[in-house]
Amino acid sequence: MDNTIEVKHLTKKFGNFTAVDGISFSVGKGEIFGFLGPNGAGKTTTIRMLCGLVTPTAGGGLVGGLDIMKQGEKIKEHIGYMSQKFSLYDDLTVAENIDFYAGIYQTKKENRKQKKEQIIKTAELTGKENVLTGNLANSVKQHLALGCALIHDPGIIFLDEPTAGVDPLSRKKFWEVIKTLSENGVTTLVTTHYMDEAERCDRIALINNGQIIACDTTADLKTKKMKGILYEVECDNVMEGLEVLRESQVAHDVTLYGLYLHVMVEGEEGCPEEIRSLLSAKNIAVKRIEKIPPSLEDVFVFLVEQGDQ
Ligand SMILES: Nc1ncnc2c1ncn2[C@@H]1O[C@H](COP(=O)(O)OP(=O)(O)O)[C@@H](O)[C@H]1O
Ligand SMILES: [Mg+2]
Repeated sequence: MDNTIEVKHLTKKFGNFTAVDGISFSVGKGEIFGFLGPNGAGKTTTIRMLCGLVTPTAGGGLVGGLDIMKQGEKIKEHIGYMSQKFSLYDDLTVAENIDFYAGIYQTKKENRKQKKEQIIKTAELTGKENVLTGNLANSVKQHLALGCALIHDPGIIFLDEPTAGVDPLSRKKFWEVIKTLSENGVTTLVTTHYMDEAERCDRIALINNGQIIACDTTADLKTKKMKGILYEVECDNVMEGLEVLRESQVAHDVTLYGLYLHVMVEGEEGCPEEIRSLLSAKNIAVKRIEKIPPSLEDVFVFLVEQGDQ
């Protein structure tokens, strides 16, 4: 096992529908690589192909040096997979779930006791070994599921929306575990909808309609992919303001960002004044226009809209 992932032109069709459309990327040892993209983009299907659970239609890849087309069974021994839906059994106790995974992954008998203790400790479940898993809080379940996916010390782990619906503090703890694994050479491929989590990845791939529309560090995505300057506009009646600016020629792109508008313009010259006068002409009071660095969400929205055009 070399703990790397190498994917070339990977494609999956369901009937006539192409769910994953010729994607290529590579992930290095110990890297935390994120998949970011809307629902239906093809993230889960890609992960399932890499785990040897779904057969690709075309293209291929190596996971830990093993061929996903031919060595799916062997790959399963070397990877950890936390699926999007809960992978734990609600009607088993904490201890029973761990035993179940120890069995599936054929963990060595002499290591089991120590592994079990470690998982329970990390998930902060000491004293709750006999509680039914279905009665645990979501965040605790997620930690336990991660522990179970790691029970056989895999070199590569696939985490599919591991923290969906989990509170911020628990998400932070979860990411500390991933960070420590990464420092120990474990490679992670993780999907998330949370921008703060995407920021914690070494690199991310933005996925839309089965294709990778950008792949880079978050810093480089923000500086290199955005062509133009971004202004944040605080004004009355943002929805009307959005329409006005969208219909005008001044903006390359206008999006609603919380209570504000994010206005993307090609060149800087005269722009804040032009935005202000367009809005004022429609009796929309402008409180603030400020040049801002783009967030990952801005970059993502911009690239998706650019791709759709
Ligand atoms: N077994 C399947 N049969 C038919 N269509 C599928 C199947 N699995 C996934 N899809 C479709 O493929 C697309 C990508 O799905 P998925 O990989 O789950 O996306 P994501 O994880 O990014 O939300 C979706 O349109 C989904 O409906
Ligand atoms: Mg998914």
